[in-house]
Formats: sequence, structure tokens, C-alpha cells
Amino acid sequence: MIDLSTTYMGLALPNPLVVASSSLTGNLAGVKLAAESGAGAIVLKSLFEEQITAETIALAKHAEHAGHTEAAEYLQGYGMTLGPQAYLRLIKEAVKAVDVPIIASINCFSRSNWSDYATKIAAAGAAAIELNIGLLPTRSAQQGRAIEERCYQILREVKQQVDIPVALKLGPYFSSFAEVADHLGRDRVEAPPFTVGWCGPGENSGKIVWHKADALVLFNRFYQLDIDIDNLELVAGNPLSSPSEINTALRWIALLHKRIDSDLAATTGIHDARDAIKQLLAGATVVQLCSTLMINGFSQIGLMLKEIEDWMQTHDFTSIAEFRGRLSQAQSEHPENYERLQYIKLFVGLE
Ligand SMILES: Cc1cc2nc3c(=O)[nH]c(=O)nc-3n(C[C@H](O)[C@H](O)[C@H](O)COP(=O)(O)O)c2cc1C
Repeated sequence: MIDLSTTYMGLALPNPLVVASSSLTGNLAGVKLAAESGAGAIVLKSLFEEQITAETIALAKHAEHAGHTEAAEYLQGYGMTLGPQAYLRLIKEAVKAVDVPIIASINCFSRSNWSDYATKIAAAGAAAIELNIGLLPTRSAQQGRAIEERCYQILREVKQQVDIPVALKLGPYFSSFAEVADHLGRDRVEAPPFTVGWCGPGENSGKIVWHKADALVLFNRFYQLDIDIDNLELVAGNPLSSPSEINTALRWIALLHKRIDSDLAATTGIHDARDAIKQLLAGATVVQLCSTLMINGFSQIGLMLKEIEDWMQTHDFTSIAEFRGRLSQAQSEHPENYERLQYIKLFVGLE
């Protein structure tokens, strides 16, 4: 008997295929379809921090002074009608409608006054929260350290608000991702590590507790920018990934498995069962699916589950735990193969 069940952030999942946050999961119909198709868990479409902040401002009756943020107005104009109240309703309805865990998602970039919304998400019944830190540092005045610290502080603030698990979805653009993952992936008690910005009142003296992220979701795929050379203008790049985009997350999951305490969710470029198996062998706890479901439909989940089972049978595995992380660096007899030596071999031709 093949057992595909797994535990993600302490949540029991029937299998490791998670439907990623996207327009597929922005309404109840999509959530039900995902569950009926066999998803192991479902991440709802993200609510933007700006939407929460705009509503907070409106409720405080300061709208005439502060106004809605430009981004919030844009979102409204663009048909993002799912405001913070409707989002809580979606969580409640989704939790009632399906048996698999519902993970709420917030796209955020600051630790401003949106974070108490996390308590409302928990009260609405979400099994966990995924924070998509949508920071694309483009200005030279933004310091790398300050950006890292902002990620730590956002996590810390939300962890202080809720008891449900919190996942962080990050992009790969850090100068030392191993250090960032290490900081986010372990509980720590230490003095504030940095002098620049971001420590709240009273936090600069004495030690502070940093709780680990319950999972790191690697890696966010930022919107792509492209250029139309016929019309000499900027255009949006392809919103959907291709299978060749899997490797960055694959490398980092293989490097981080067993090196940090957070679970690891793989996202970007996972299009079929083979891709999912690769990520599990690297050490992913779960894999998240988006583009492949947009291209092939939700029936892709069932096909992938069947192919994973067939592969497990061929290799005499009866549970995911038997092979998860088998090809991670931590379990390798040749850890150097994951690092610079292979690069040198490739380009110098030594064998
Ligand atoms: C149309 C579309 C909408 C998306 N919306 C969100 C979102 O609201 N929140 C989020 O965290 N990621 C969002 N994503 C990113 C996906 O969750 C996923 O991380 C990304 O597409 C890479 O995975 P894939 O290769 O399986 O597509 C979106 C992706 C697409 C294509």
C-alpha cells in the first residue's frame, strides 16, 4: 500500500501536492475544484497589505486626510473586489467546504499596521498563513541588510499575533540566502543583530525572541518584465513558468534540507510528477502547483498523484518519508557536488 500522506507545518495533508496561491484559489468554486481534484492543501489567493491598510485607514475615518494608497486604488480599479472582509468570508466558507487545510496568504512588504489582520485570519479558521514578501528592491538607497531585517521583523510581528503556523514565501535575490534561511529557519534568543532601522520601541535593549518560520516557500516568481522591439515598449513577460525554471529552488531545497528547522515548500517550475519527485528527493516537504494547473487544468493533480504512486512502487517506497531528502546535501556522501567543485569541473572539463 502506497501512503502519500505527509505533515506540513504540523498540518496533516493527504498528499504533498499543494495548490499555490493564485487566481485559481481566489474564490470558493476554485477552492472546491482544487480539493475535489485531490489537492493536499490549498493556498488562497493573496490579499495585498495595501488593501488591509486602506481599509484600516477608512475605518479610522482618516480617509479624507491620508487617502487610499495608490496601490489600493489600482487594485480596486483592476477588479480586486476581494477586500479584507470578503477575504475573511472566503476563508470561513472554504474551511467549511473542504477537508484539506486552507492556508491564507498575504502579500506584504512592510511591518506596518496590517499585521493584526493576521489574528482575524486565524479566527476565520485558516489552518496557516503564508506571507508573500513581495519586495523587489530597485533603488540604490535600499540596503541589503535592511531588507533582510525587514523579512525577519515581518515574521516576528505576525508570529507574535497568531498561534497558527506561518510560512514565508521569498524570492531568491539575497546576497547570502543561506544566512537568511538560517535566520528565518530556527528559533533564536539573541540581542537585536542590527543597528539599522526596524527595531520597535523597547526592543533595542535586552534579548529578543525570534521564532522560526514554520515553512519557507522557495521561490516566489516575481512578475516578469519584457520588451516589445516592434513597438518599442515595455510589456509584461509570461506570467506562467516553464519547467526549466525549477532548478533554483531545487538547489536551495537540496542545500537547506535538515540544515534548518522550517519545513520547505517548493514553488516555481513544477509542471509534472517527475518535477514533484525531484523536489521531494531534494528535501521538499510539499510542492506547490500553479502554472501547470493553469495550462493543464485541475485534473493534472490526479495524474501527478498517480504517477508519483507508480514511481514509488517501481522504487519500492511505501511512504514519502522513505525518500524525502534522499538527494539533499545533508544526506549526500559527496556534499561537495552541490557546490563550487562541480562548477569548476563543468567549465574546466576535469572529471
Ligand atoms: C496568475 C497568477 C497569479 C498569482 N497570484 C499569486 C498570489 O496572489 N500570491 C502569491 O503568493 N503568488 C501568486 N502567484 C505565484 C504562484 O503562487 C507561484 O508561486 C508561481 O506561479 C510559480 O509557480 P509555478 O511555476 O507553479 O507557476 C501567482 C501566479 C500566477 C501565474
